[in-house]
Amino acid sequence: MRIRAAILWEQGQPLCVEAAELDAPGPGEVLVEIKAAGVCHSDLHPARGDWAMRVPVVLGHEGAGIVRGVGPAVTPFGAAQGAPSGSRGARVREGDHVVLCWAPACGVCPPCKEGRAVLCDRLEKVTYRNKLPSGAARLHARGQDVAPFLGTACFSDFVIVPEEAAVPVPRDLRFDALATLGCAVLTGVGAVTNAARVPPGSRVVVIGAGGIGLNVIQGAAIEKCDQIVAVDLRPAPLALAKQFGATHTIDASANVPAAIRDLTAGRGADFVFDTVGSPATLATALACARKGGAVVLTGLSRQDSQGSIAMFPFVMQEKRLIGSVYGSGQPLRDIPRLVALYQAGTLKLNELVSRTYALDKVNTALTALAASDGARGVILW
Ligand SMILES: NC(=O)c1ccc[n+]([C@@H]2O[C@H](COP(=O)([O-])OP(=O)(O)OC[C@H]3O[C@@H](n4cnc5c(N)ncnc54)[C@H](O)[C@@H]3O)[C@@H](O)[C@H]2O)c1
Ligand SMILES: [Zn+2]
Ligand SMILES: [Zn+2]
Repeated sequence: MRIRAAILWEQGQPLCVEAAELDAPGPGEVLVEIKAAGVCHSDLHPARGDWAMRVPVVLGHEGAGIVRGVGPAVTPFGAAQGAPSGSRGARVREGDHVVLCWAPACGVCPPCKEGRAVLCDRLEKVTYRNKLPSGAARLHARGQDVAPFLGTACFSDFVIVPEEAAVPVPRDLRFDALATLGCAVLTGVGAVTNAARVPPGSRVVVIGAGGIGLNVIQGAAIEKCDQIVAVDLRPAPLALAKQFGATHTIDASANVPAAIRDLTAGRGADFVFDTVGSPATLATALACARKGGAVVLTGLSRQDSQGSIAMFPFVMQEKRLIGSVYGSGQPLRDIPRLVALYQAGTLKLNELVSRTYALDKVNTALTALAASDGARGVILW
């Protein structure tokens, strides 16, 4: 079928919104009409060239839409009942509203069997190489195959995704709000609840109050943390941080570890979330953590980044450093749980959508993200 997609032909250059050809879904694949796609910093990194990537590629990995077709061997709806939670495909049928999952797990490899779906072995072999599990190239433009970023490629009218990447959700919810669940919300809230398992009453610092950071903040608020300190370079994210539950805000150009000591009677924070992930923010995060405290690193910055640790105090103060990808849980279990929290009014999603754009304006959306205008820009159809 003929569609329009935003294609990256050369890293460092703008995306081109143009006509492309999408094949029909194959076995185990689903055709999704995209209704909303959040613009994440993990789209900006490959667009700019921070992460090496083969082109042409269609970016976008935080999407929501409607299932418009299923491949021949897609598991019949309802067959997932009784399957081990999170380890099997989300079964869908035409007309289902879905949130896209950019880490569709195979369900059978050792990490999947351990319940660590985000560490599925298949992700490194196919998804993180921008391929579908079937190996098929379904998208073409200008006579070439076009890779689907993270197998989701939702800066596009329609996508073909593996059935495990389409998570059914109720039909009465806003697509722009739903899209944010597909990356920012799952990553941020999951870092708090799954990676850190932050107990109530904790004192938490969040470095970077963008799409991911605001969701760490609201995750910490939901978990009833006593103190939630947001740190950012820019005023707009810090103002939003307060709306999402931050009790304090600090300008990142200040002496952040000293400010945190002042706020914690000299002790430091129980948990520090580094959602920026630069060598400098990691050093700040480690310095903000108390004795026995933990730093959770979700920010990715450049692919070749190397952080350093002052090893002596790290050991003597028994600090911990935890990497966290995509919420460290089981997306097929966690996305429906987050939907329920949104429906209950506990999780803010509408407030995350601060800017909306037509697909034609995707480059404007990326520029606004680079300028840290705050919260999430969302492409709407
Ligand atoms: N671990 C994962 O699974 C995962 C998932 C999605 C995104 N990411 C990564 O997380 C990072 C953040 O993504 P995002 O979409 O939230 O980006 P974003 O641009 O929305 O937010 C980043 C925020 O950090 C602030 N910031 C930048 N440098 C800072 C500094 N030195 N000190 C304090 N604040 C600073 C910016 O002003 C901005 O508000 C990116 O590197 C992205 O690739 C990781
Ligand atoms: Zn993302
Ligand atoms: Zn697996």
